[in-house]
Amino acid sequence: MSSQDNDETLLAIGELAQRSGIAVSAIHFYESKGLVRSTRNKRNQRLFSRRELRVLGLIKVAQDLGFTLDEIGEAFSGIPTDRVPTTRDWQRVSRALDEALQAKIELATRMRNKLNQCIGCGCLSLNDCPLRNPSDELAEKGPGPHLLR
Ligand code: FES
Repeated sequence: MSSQDNDETLLAIGELAQRSGIAVSAIHFYESKGLVRSTRNKRNQRLFSRRELRVLGLIKVAQDLGFTLDEIGEAFSGIPTDRVPTTRDWQRVSRALDEALQAKIELATRMRNKLNQCIGCGCLSLNDCPLRNPSDELAEKGPGPHLLR
């Protein structure tokens, strides 16, 4: 919670769920993992900084991209808890995810470009399989689509 937060800017968990599109139960789970943080008011209700909306939005997208919660937690561990994160703080998160993001982008690009070509999976079902994977030679490398990875 930052010093810039006050009760008027803090969100109850229902509001946070509505604005983020993430279920209350999932927010509790993320909180238990230390990915989002709350404070309590005098009636012991959880209140969340608006900063958590951004964190939840990024968590949702990162999960859609296949990042695990451990990976997300590690990347977000540099985000300060005692002040509003700056652009530089978010750049640190970006750098932490950069290598893995680049690998995902390259894999997605290869998949898009090779959807109509042999991927070396062993099916030998396309016209170019005999050229790219003659007699299923790639099987010697083990399981999987060798020409995609
Ligand atoms: S697409 Fe499966 S071996 Fe060519």
